[in-house]
Amino acid sequence: MLSLGIETSCDETALALVDEGRVLEEVMFSQVDKHSIFGGVVPEMASREHLRKLQPLWQSLQQKSGRRAGELELIAVARGPGLLGCLLVGLGFAKGLAMSLKIPLVGVNHLHAHLMAPALEQEIEFPAVGLLVSGGHTNLYKINSSIHFELLGRTLDDAAGEAFDKTARALNLPYPGGIYIDRFAEFAEPDPDMFPRPYLDKQSLDFSFSGLKTALVNHIRRNPGLVQKNPLDITPDSTPDPELARVCASFNLAVAETLQVKLQRAVSSTGVRYVILAGGVAANTMIRQKIKEICSRMGLRLILPGLELCTDNASMIAGCGEILASHGLYHDLALEAVPRGRKIPWDYSNGLKD
Ligand code: KG4
Ligand code: ZN
Repeated sequence: MLSLGIETSCDETALALVDEGRVLEEVMFSQVDKHSIFGGVVPEMASREHLRKLQPLWQSLQQKSGRRAGELELIAVARGPGLLGCLLVGLGFAKGLAMSLKIPLVGVNHLHAHLMAPALEQEIEFPAVGLLVSGGHTNLYKINSSIHFELLGRTLDDAAGEAFDKTARALNLPYPGGIYIDRFAEFAEPDPDMFPRPYLDKQSLDFSFSGLKTALVNHIRRNPGLVQKNPLDITPDSTPDPELARVCASFNLAVAETLQVKLQRAVSSTGVRYVILAGGVAANTMIRQKIKEICSRMGLRLILPGLELCTDNASMIAGCGEILASHGLYHDLALEAVPRGRKIPWDYSNGLKD
């Protein structure tokens, strides 16, 4: 089934063609440079950029893949969670194409798409525990099948990616900061006592990262020399000074070990043998390493997407759309965008009728 995936939930405009779980082509425009000077995504600007970029990207996708609009069999679009204005641009584009081509449309839960992304590279087995760590979410799931996700725990305040980004911001590193902390961490040994492991005393599977962020801000107050002079001079390939590297490594370790403990608890309480790690933060070197370690210690199979499938992309939207379609789940033109914080309804229909 030749499927077009459309991703516009935040600051990446992306389109991809997937056929029966195989990625044929993906094109993407990252708005990161535009938002970076503001230290975060400016929602209004992000929606306008999506509107500007979708059509040229669509042309480029057709050229690169050699496939034409008339060959498409399914339109899959990220319908939430995300920035409402951004989602609406993607939805408008998706509905227009589906209507003009008279092909089925399906709205995809962006979070489920992250978790199912590794299915584009390898077979996924169920039931599995899914740990989704992204810019907006830190969620633990029991995944019973490719369409049945049971939420076990979530962050009560900052998401893991948000904690990385806010930490980077406090250090005056560029936005989004996760990649900088990841790379700079490699230059030093972490100090395991520098930062707390937040919320571990609670037996619940929820997360809370705001205490860690406060500990970091207090550490910076005591060591103002850590704050970088000019973020514009810094790239992920820069060599950090040793003290900055030690802070990055120690912060990274605190997040990684917190995730490790909660994941271990989720696995023990569900008794599953498979683990999926997904989302932008799953690209983090130390987190990948720590999750690999715990899985191998517990004799679990870890399903880990390649780096390009961790951060936002349209292949995962097309792939997840195909999974839904294979279960007969579609949407009609009444499909609504769902912003972050609102539950995504189970509102599938059996498809567009012309
Ligand atoms: O999944 P994603 O691309 O977008 C959302 O759906 O939120 O995740 C973006 C988040 C950002 O907070 C970014 O800083 C973080 O993922 N991130 C990383 C790394 N690469 C991206 N965090 C830590 N280490 C990385 N290598
Ligand atoms: Zn995402």
